[in-house]
Amino acid sequence: MSNYIFGIDLGTGNIKIYSSADDSILSEKNMVAVVKKDTLLAYGDAAFEMFEKAPANIRVSHPLNNGVIADINDMQSVLRNFIAELTEGRNSGPDFYVAVPTDVTEVEKRAFYDLIKDANVKARRIMMVEKSIADGLGLDIDVKNSQGILIVDVGYETTEISVLSLGGIVLSRLIKVGGRKFDETIRSVIRKEFGLMIGEKTAEQLKIHLADTESQKVESVVYGRDIVTGLPVERSIPSDMIDVALEEAASVIVDNIKLILERTPPELGADIYRHGIFLTGGSAQLVHLDEQIVRGTNLKVNRAVDSQNSVALGLARVIKDPGFHSLAYSLADMSEE
Ligand SMILES: Nc1ncnc2c1ncn2[C@@H]1O[C@H](COP(=O)(O)OP(=O)(O)OP(=O)(O)O)[C@@H](O)[C@H]1O
Ligand SMILES: [Mg+2]
Repeated sequence: MSNYIFGIDLGTGNIKIYSSADDSILSEKNMVAVVKKDTLLAYGDAAFEMFEKAPANIRVSHPLNNGVIADINDMQSVLRNFIAELTEGRNSGPDFYVAVPTDVTEVEKRAFYDLIKDANVKARRIMMVEKSIADGLGLDIDVKNSQGILIVDVGYETTEISVLSLGGIVLSRLIKVGGRKFDETIRSVIRKEFGLMIGEKTAEQLKIHLADTESQKVESVVYGRDIVTGLPVERSIPSDMIDVALEEAASVIVDNIKLILERTPPELGADIYRHGIFLTGGSAQLVHLDEQIVRGTNLKVNRAVDSQNSVALGLARVIKDPGFHSLAYSLADMSEE
């Protein structure tokens, strides 16, 4: 019997859903736009469109904060709507494989399970997969048989640094730094140096295009509001000024990688030395981040090709390959109360 199976990566910035029906990944902003307290106006990319542009009576927000569920109702409506889209109303009790961070409390982990169970998506079975394990598979690493794999997933609000060995997690640390922090850093530099207020979306676009502007040796042009006159203006921003600030913001990631390396048993450290560090998550693409990690650790860095989707790609492998089924586990047996 053919049935829907979904792989869910609930990111703080983007929700990614792998669907076995057509073997594809849906990726949209993990956001809602709500009016009158609880009437859903838009979700996903459509909600993001309204972000920083909506009037005060429309709340546009992220249901997840720092990697954990902040607003369960919002998160459930995002999930329910996307699942309805993907099943086109023919929902016959799908299975869900959900990626969860390792370095969170049992209660926070269980919240991911409860979320899906109570989201009105007719979940038949809910399986959990540790996010870093899924990342490893998404990077095409045979996590079950490999020893000493260091994975750094730099996302939107979080960075997860994990050491894997033989299908298990030896060490894992979740820190509250990611793309959002980089955007904030850009905003504050521009405010300080140019007296210009820019929005989060503008800062993110500047950041994403930094690699191009640098290679073309041109300055980034941004639009914002002049702090003194209050008027909308355009300014050219030299990229080296942004680079310095971003390096400073990313240094906490390098420091935490070093901390994990210091705690890694020496035999595994030797394996990590041979393989290099695996860098993934959407923010792995941040210009110069890989070089900064190389400089800070003296290790080789392998950057994922499709970094934003690596968790979802890994969940797809768990779903499709019976050899990886054992990497998923169920929380259903734990006490329901
Ligand atoms: N080319 C790029 N350069 C720099 N950053 C980028 C680029 N492309 C995407 N990003 C950043 O990647 C981040 C989103 O990555 P991702 O989807 O992996 O995060 P997430 O899974 O939602 O967050 P988290 O894992 O922290 O919960 C955003 O901050 C985005 O700006
Ligand atoms: Mg993520």
